[in-house]
Amino acid sequence: ASRNFDVLRSPVICVLGHVDTGKTKMLDTIRRTNVQLGEAGGITQQIGATRVPAEALKERCRKARNFDPDSVKIPGFLIIDTPGHESFANLRSRGSSLCDVAILVVDIMHGLEPQTIESLKLLLKRGTPFVVALNKVDRLYGYESNPQKDIYQHLKAQSSNVQLEFKERYEKIVTEFAENSVNVALSNQNKNTDEYVSIVPTSAFLGDGIGNLLAYIVDYSQDKLAERLAFCTELDCTVMEVRSLPGLGTTVDVILLNGTLKRGDIIVLTGTEGPICSEIRDLLMPAPLREIRVKGDYEHYASIQGAQGVKVLAKGLDNVVAGLPLFVCRRSDELEVLKADAQKQ
Ligand code: GTP
Ligand code: MG
Ligand code: NA
Repeated sequence: ASRNFDVLRSPVICVLGHVDTGKTKMLDTIRRTNVQLGEAGGITQQIGATRVPAEALKERCRKARNFDPDSVKIPGFLIIDTPGHESFANLRSRGSSLCDVAILVVDIMHGLEPQTIESLKLLLKRGTPFVVALNKVDRLYGYESNPQKDIYQHLKAQSSNVQLEFKERYEKIVTEFAENSVNVALSNQNKNTDEYVSIVPTSAFLGDGIGNLLAYIVDYSQDKLAERLAFCTELDCTVMEVRSLPGLGTTVDVILLNGTLKRGDIIVLTGTEGPICSEIRDLLMPAPLREIRVKGDYEHYASIQGAQGVKVLAKGLDNVVAGLPLFVCRRSDELEVLKADAQKQ
């Protein structure tokens, strides 16, 4: 396998946090979609994936002061949405294990809630870097929104009551993080991102601060994760969800981190009743800024290079176990070894 330091792949970014903190709404604002409104009870129940191309990132990051759109070297972001409801701990674990960096969403009115702390522990255990989105700042009493502005300049322009309420709630949340052994600082004041986790105030609903949040992750990824993001030809692919779709049968949605998947590839996966071996019939992806878990007009591909969220079509995928690797058999003498590997999982 070879690494190419001139070609960076998209970082995979997982959005985590307690139920209803605004994870899906934040993605809707970035995508300009309304996925959250269509969810049963407004509750996310599956892992999703959305690619945000560099052009869209540049346009949304322009709102952050001091951000240079010409500095963007990554091809975009692949953002994974997860459920915050307590019954989906397995999906949070799966999502956080797939990502390069995470966004931990905290409701400024509620502070650290049980699944926020659960998510925080997953990130700390795995050593996954993350940024905190301190969301719903529009709920500060008297807050006036302006999603076009840099959030820090904009906060300074709020009434003194809003600034005071922000300060009080922010300081309370800093203490709650400290109680969980995490030092945090506002992203514009954070001089040491190895010691302090950055916080960006946001309104997922109105868009305030979203440019600052995305700009922070672009800079962080390129500065701190460049080596990890150098495209690698060795396949790194994990099954995110197994979904049955009308007309398509059982498909698997995978996160292809590194390497390439091709139509006709022989794949080996872990099944509930032993290893599953099949041939890729087709590779589908939603359009950019569209959610893979929303049925729509998927685009067909003969070959896809990571990092991407991909819907894989093949026969016999009914019993695939999610959360585990998808292997590709490149030489016939590899098949038995890969089957044994799949069964060990
Ligand atoms: P789960 O996926 O079910 O865990 O929830 P979630 O974190 O994805 O939250 P979701 O996007 O479903 O938002 C929950 C509710 O909060 C919805 O009614 C949103 O409209 C609202 N909401 C989200 N972000 C904001 C925000 O920034 N400000 C305000 N005022 N409301 C918000
Ligand atoms: Mg959601
Ligand atoms: Na919700």
